[in-house]
This record gives sequence, C-alpha cells and structure tokens, in this order.
Amino acid sequence: MGRALALPGANPALRNEPKLTVRKGPYTYTVETHEDQSTYSVSDGTRTITVPIHWYFGAGAQTWVLERDGHRYESAVSYYPSIPGLDFTTGDEDLKPRNLDEAIGREIGMPETRVCFGCHASTAVNKGKMTFESLRPGVTCEHCHAGTNTHLADSINDDFDSAPPDLRKRSSEDISNFCGQCHRSWETVVRNHWRGELTVRFQPYRLANSKCFDGGDPRISCIACHDPHVDVVRQDSSYDAKCLACHSPASTAASSAAIVSSISPPHAKSCPTAQSDCVSCHMPKVKLPNGHLTFTDHQIRIVKPGEPFPN
Ligand code: HEC
Ligand code: HEC
Ligand code: HEC
Ligand code: HEC
Ligand code: HEC
Ligand code: HEC
Repeated sequence: MGRALALPGANPALRNEPKLTVRKGPYTYTVETHEDQSTYSVSDGTRTITVPIHWYFGAGAQTWVLERDGHRYESAVSYYPSIPGLDFTTGDEDLKPRNLDEAIGREIGMPETRVCFGCHASTAVNKGKMTFESLRPGVTCEHCHAGTNTHLADSINDDFDSAPPDLRKRSSEDISNFCGQCHRSWETVVRNHWRGELTVRFQPYRLANSKCFDGGDPRISCIACHDPHVDVVRQDSSYDAKCLACHSPASTAASSAAIVSSISPPHAKSCPTAQSDCVSCHMPKVKLPNGHLTFTDHQIRIVKPGEPFPN
C-alpha cells in the first residue's frame, strides 16, 4: 500500500516501457518516458496535446492524474501489466469525448481530487482542504496509526509508550469498516447500488456476504489473513491455517478456549473434498469486465460450475 501513489522517478513499470501507444477511435494516446520523467499525449492526427505526468496511481495497473490549464483529469487510458500496454481506464470505457481537449481524460473536480488522493496518499487533506505541499505518496503509517509521528520520534529513543492504538483489539466488523474507508465498506457498496462483477474488488462487502463472516469473531477479520505492513501473500497453502481455525474439528478445543465468540459456534463443518489449498476453490479469482484486472472473491463459498456471479 506504500506504493499506491508514486512521484516521478519511482516508476519501474514505465522505465521498462519507454514508449507506450494505443489507438482508441479517432485518438492516439502515447506515454513516453525519458530519464524517469514521463509525458502523456493525445493526438487526433492533426493536433497533439502533451502534458507531463506528475501523479502515478497504482502499484500494478497505473492511472495518471494529469493537470492542464488549472484543471485535473483522470487519464483516459491506463497502463495494465497484464497486457502489457495501454487501454481505457477502468470505469471510463464509456466516455464519449467530443473533441481532443476532452479526449485527454475525465475531468475531476476538487471534491473527487480530495478523495482520490485521500485514499492513495497520506497527509494530502488537511482540515478538508487539499494540500499538495504536505502530500506524501502512498498509504503511510500515519494513515492507519494516528499520532505515529510522535511514536516514531519516541521509538528512536527506545521509548514505545505512545504506541499506536491497538487495532488488533477491534472487532472484525470494525476492522472491515476501518479497511473499508478505502477498500469500500459493506454500507458504501449497498448505498451506491453497486452490483455485479465490479463488486469483487470491494473485499469488506464480499466478505460480509459470506457465511463465514461473523462480525464478532476475530478469526475472520481482514488482519487474521493479511498483515497490512507487507505485500499480500500469493501462496494458496499459506491461508489453510486461517480456514482451519474454524473448519477443523481439531481446532475446537484449542481455539474455543482462546477465542470466545458470542455468536458463531467455535467450529464449522470440514471439507469433504480436500484438506489443503482451500482458497484455490473457495475464493475464486474474478476478472473485471475489461479483462485486465483480477481480484480474489472474498465471498467465501462453494463455487458451482457455471453459476452466475453471486451478488
Ligand atoms: C487509506 C486507504 C487505505 C486503507 C485504510 C487500507 N488500504 Fe489497503 N490498499 C489501499 C490502496 C490504495 C491499495 C492499492 C495499492 C496499489 O495496488 O496501488 C491497497 C492495497 C491493499 C492490499 C493489496 C496489497 C498487495 O500487495 O497487492 C491489501 C492486502 C490491503 N490493501 C489490505 C488492507 C487491510 C487489511 C486494511 C485494513 C487493516 C487496509 N488495506 C486499509 C488503501 C488502503
Ligand atoms: C475510497 C478510496 C479510493 C478512492 C477515492 C480512489 N481509490 Fe484507487 N484504489 C483504492 C483501493 C483500495 C485500491 C486497491 C485495489 C482494490 O482493491 O480495488 C485502488 C486501486 C487503484 C488503482 C490500481 C488499479 C486498479 O484499478 O485496481 C489505480 C490505478 C487507482 N486506484 C487510481 C485511482 C484514481 C486515479 C482515483 C481518483 C480519480 C482513485 N483511484 C480513487 C481506493 C481508492
Ligand atoms: C493500512 C493500515 C496500516 C498501515 C499503512 C500501517 N499499519 Fe501498522 N498496524 C495496522 C493494523 C491493522 C495493526 C494491528 C494488527 C497487526 O499487528 O498486524 C497494526 C499494528 C502495528 C504495530 C503493532 C504491532 C505489534 O506487533 O504490536 C506497529 C508497531 C505498527 N503497526 C507500526 C506501523 C508502522 C511503523 C507503519 C508504517 C511503516 C504502519 N504500521 C503502517 C495497520 C496499518
Ligand atoms: C480468510 C482469509 C481472508 C480474509 C479474512 C481476508 N482476505 Fe483478503 N485475500 C485473501 C486471499 C487468499 C487473497 C488472494 C491472495 C493471492 O493473490 O493469492 C486476498 C487478497 C486480497 C487483496 C488483493 C486484491 C485481490 O482481491 O486479490 C486485498 C486488497 C484484500 N485481500 C483485502 C482484504 C480486506 C480489506 C479484508 C477484510 C474485509 C480481507 N482481505 C479479508 C484472504 C483473505
Ligand atoms: C470465523 C470462522 C470461519 C473462518 C475463519 C472461515 N469460515 Fe468458512 N464458514 C464458517 C461458518 C460458521 C460457516 C457456515 C456454517 C458451516 O458451514 O459450518 C462457513 C461456511 C463455509 C463454507 C460453505 C459455504 C456455503 O456456501 O455453503 C465454505 C465452503 C467455507 N466456509 C470455506 C471456508 C474457507 C475456504 C475459509 C478460509 C479461506 C473459511 N471458510 C474461513 C466459519 C468460518
Ligand atoms: C479442489 C477444490 C477444493 C478444495 C481445495 C477445498 N474444497 Fe472445500 N469444498 C469443495 C467442494 C466441491 C465442496 C462441495 C462438496 C459437496 O457439496 O459435496 C466443498 C465443501 C466445503 C465445505 C462445506 C461442507 C458442508 O458439509 O457443507 C466447507 C466448509 C469447505 N469445503 C471448506 C474447505 C476448507 C477449509 C478447505 C481447505 C482445508 C477446502 N474446503 C478445500 C472443493 C474444495
């Protein structure tokens, strides 16, 4: 998450792709990189608009926030490592630019700029105001641990008295909402009437819809499976123990003594089919409609072949 937003010079993806180009309808988009500085251009064959890229969003797939004549735009095209190359920015596929000026991207006003940087950077918003001067790219410590600055100062003196508030003591429901500030909470998805495959990227929503979820049981909280301080673990077997904490008869005695849950039974049924790599079958990978981004469905379930995507 520390790489959710980057500044020029910190961009290995574009360094390896010095010239990217794609044609979309009457417009040709080009992203060129020289010595770590990239430019974004759109041309209709007679006229070309070129702007420098200052803001790189995304650690894998990349979208750029561009500035031109005091206006801000989400780039119309993005870089997808899975192609690898440029294609429409996810969600902006249906934009119909009327001229070259509009073809640069989707204009984003101040309120959207604020939330966009609010999720991808730290200390970008001060008392409700966008402050580019104080912005630090990526989701840094302060974002999740209020008052970390004093904590870091203290830790240099080996004094951990002002450790950040212990997030582990929160319920799994609270943790889901905490992570859901950015990953979108169940309420946010329902309130916006988001449906279909695109909801797969909203893990707090998908997880809450799973029979496994119990807001009072720490074994199913986001941080039972993820350490937010390191990259996500991409090895199926490493999650087995997380599932078996509930789905194994053997876990009953040990975990029910240690973890008292008021709502769910201490253990759930075990699998008749397999004893390992649980997530490979029960948390399937789902591609977004544009085919370039893949997410893991957190609606843990028995997947039936050919079933429609469950909402
Ligand atoms: C301030 C916003 C914010 C909060 C709060 C937040 N995240 Fe994230 N997280 C992001 C962004 C943005 C990314 C995408 C980084 C990228 O790929 O560009 C991300 C990515 C991730 C990833 C994928 C990382 C990878 O290696 O691919 C995981 C896992 C994750 N977050 C888990 C969590 C958990 C668990 C919590 C709650 C404890 C949480 N996040 C809270 C913004 C946030
Ligand atoms: C409510 C918080 C939030 C807002 C607002 C937000 N993002 Fe994100 N963004 C995330 C999270 C969390 C991820 C991690 C991937 C995921 O789980 O969807 C992400 C992922 C991305 C990615 C990686 C590719 C992808 O689509 O997964 C890009 C690029 C991106 N965001 C760009 C933007 C831009 C540009 C804006 C503003 C116009 C923006 N985001 C607004 C939270 C946010
Ligand atoms: C996306 C949110 C997020 C970010 C960013 C984040 N943390 Fe945390 N941190 C958590 C959560 C949730 C916990 C409690 C669960 C845990 O221990 O993993 C935690 C726990 C901790 C703990 C207590 C761990 C322990 O074993 O007692 C320390 C210390 C800490 N974080 C320091 C940092 C520092 C330093 C950074 C920046 C490099 C940072 N965190 C960034 C969410 C975050
Ligand atoms: C029972 C375990 C489990 C729980 C609980 C869990 N995750 Fe995950 N998560 C996974 C697995 C497995 C992956 C896929 C890892 C891989 O790519 O191999 C994953 C991947 C992710 C990713 C990377 C993008 C993607 O969809 O592949 C994000 C972001 C994420 N989880 C966020 C969350 C958040 C936020 C929560 C809490 C609402 C949460 N997770 C709860 C197991 C879990
Ligand atoms: C907090 C405890 C808990 C955790 C952790 C947990 N589950 Fe569950 N799970 C349950 C409960 C409770 C049910 C519903 C009752 C039952 O089936 O015994 C359930 C149901 C299921 C079902 C049947 C769902 C259906 O559609 O009928 C599957 C499959 C499943 N879990 C797989 C998993 C996998 C795989 C993991 C790890 C990625 C996991 N569970 C993690 C508690 C948990
Ligand atoms: C190869 C795919 C696969 C793997 C790997 C797998 N499962 Fe399953 N699981 C299934 C299928 C298929 C069913 C439905 C079986 C049926 O209905 O006859 C199922 C059923 C279940 C159920 C529901 C049982 C019931 O009686 O309702 C649970 C719980 C479950 N699995 C948990 C797990 C756990 C935990 C793991 C890892 C230790 C795991 N599964 C590994 C395919 C798998």
